[in-house]
This record gives sequence, C-alpha cells and structure tokens, in this order.
Amino acid sequence: MSQVAHWEDSDLDSGQLDEFAQDVHQGLESGRKSLPCKYIYDQQGSHLFAQITQLPEYYLTRCETRILEKYKEDLVRHLNGTSFHLIELGAGDGRKTRILLSHLANSHRQVCYIPIDISPSPLESLIDSLNRELGGIPSRALVMDYFEGLRYLSSLNATPKLVLFLGSSIGNMNVRAADRFLSRLRAALNPNDYLLIGFDLKKDIQRLLRAYNDDQGITAAFNKNLLHRINRELGGAFIADRFEFYSTYEASDGAVQSYLVSTCFQQVYIRKLRRQYTFKSWEAIHTESSYKYDLDQIGAMARINGYEIVENYTDERAFFVDSLWRAV
Ligand code: AVI
Repeated sequence: MSQVAHWEDSDLDSGQLDEFAQDVHQGLESGRKSLPCKYIYDQQGSHLFAQITQLPEYYLTRCETRILEKYKEDLVRHLNGTSFHLIELGAGDGRKTRILLSHLANSHRQVCYIPIDISPSPLESLIDSLNRELGGIPSRALVMDYFEGLRYLSSLNATPKLVLFLGSSIGNMNVRAADRFLSRLRAALNPNDYLLIGFDLKKDIQRLLRAYNDDQGITAAFNKNLLHRINRELGGAFIADRFEFYSTYEASDGAVQSYLVSTCFQQVYIRKLRRQYTFKSWEAIHTESSYKYDLDQIGAMARINGYEIVENYTDERAFFVDSLWRAV
C-alpha cells in the first residue's frame, strides 16, 4: 500500500503531517520497527555527532583528517581549470573541508564553496568561521537534504565541479540506495567533474564494535536523540531510559547495525500522530546502518555508476579511504 493511500485510509490528514511525522509513523507501525537515521541530526544530534568525532574509539574522522592533510596537494593537482565549484554534501561543521579550502585559498584557483546540509545550525557556524578565517572564498550554504542538493547541482552551469561526500556518509545508505544516489549524482555532473567520497574500510570487528559503542555512552545518546526529537517536535511520550542502545556488526552485509531495544512492554503516545505505539519487551527499533567497504567493492561501485577512480587515498593503517572519482 502506498504511503499516500495509507494516510487517506486513516483518520489523519497527510496534508497536515510533515515528512518527519509521516516517516516516524511508517517506521513505528511496521512489523520490523525502524526510524531513519537522518532525523538524528537536529541541533542536539549534530552536537552529539561532533562529540563522537572526538572520541578515542571513533577513528573515522581522525583517519580522514590525516588523509586530507597528507594528500591535499596531490588532490588539487588533479583538478582542471582555474575556477570551480566545491560542493559539499552533508557538510556538518566542515572541519575537514577547511583543510582543502585553506590550501585552495593559497593556490591560484577561484573557488566557490557550496556546503549543503539538512541541519542549519552547523552550517551557520561553518560559514561564520570560514568568513573569519578564509575571508576570500565566496560561499553559499544551502539547508536541504542530499536529493534536493542533487537537484540544485544539476541547475548549476558548466563550471567544473568537485563534489565532496566525506565522512563515510555513503555508509549510512544500504548498497542499493548508495548506487541509486551515486547514479543520480552522476546525472547531475558533467564529464570530467570530480567526486571525493569517503568510505570506511572493512577491518577487525572488535575495533568496529568499539567505534559504535563507546565507553562514555555518547553514541547511545546520539541514537536516543531520535526519541527525544520525537518528544520535542511531535509531542511524543518516550522515556528514553526504557530503551537500550545496541549495535552489532553483520559480517555478511559488512555493516554495523544500530538499534534501540525496548527493555519492557510499553505503549507510547505521540500527540501529533494521534496514535499510541506498542513495544513488546526486547522489541528493536532499527536506527542506523553503517556499511563498511573494501577497495574492490568501491571500484565496482564507481564503474557501475558512471565514474572512474583517479586515486584511492588511504591512511597508514588502511582504515579509511577518500576515493577520488572522475565522471566519465
Ligand atoms: C555520519 N555517519 C557516517 C556516522 C557513521 O559512522 O555511521 C554516524 C555515526 N553513528 C554512530 N557513530 C557515528
């Protein structure tokens, strides 16, 4: 049954429900409950994610920062022309991008930086700080999701583009969704435009498990922000302590899967949805997938979706790769 048909069947008017409310209802009424991870990132969630990137267990951000520091010159050397658009999908606080931007500011390239993110608060502080630190670089921040971002990209003129999709954001999509996303991105690019895309690589499972279940409980709080956000924005009555955060590595999929598990039988009313949702003891809500790749899979993914790999930049331990692709 389509989503629209569903809402017409119910006594709720879909026209009055925003996308968040509809997605929450759809996820919680399903036999296998889930909530889309993109909703973790409101102001509170973005703040918690920034804390995750500093955790000793969460190696991803540190590895990628080192890669960008080490290879920034090589990377910029590959880019054609003197002027281009640097577009960052899911920019967050842009800390890593600063490495490239300050390098570009010192080279003789004309760059227009366009960060795109669903959360406005990190974008605002990013643009403020970029203006302070690198006043010369024109920039235009856009608050929208990735797919709106792709539509915007196709509307840009023929100025060469370098798209940044860093931080293993691609890992939060399943493989089919990732292919769909990458081929839509390809359609928004011209031949010889570039994509720099970050993948977390397959590795020792204990290290992966630690990265997604830190000792301080920040990752748990980050996932639980979904429940707090439903309470804040949809008038939900979740008691977050009645859910336990659990993450596990599914080796055959190559993905860390994260859940909030109900520790008791409970019924939770969500005012805006005018619905009560029932959770059995130990019933799980799936909150996030974090896919891990190997270089063969990355090569195949590039080819299938209309790109060729120019370089794979990895850190010394080969934990993470920033892969530079050219649209063919
Ligand atoms: C943003 N994303 C790539 C992170 C990841 O590793 O999947 C989000 C995250 N979830 C838990 N820790 C970090």
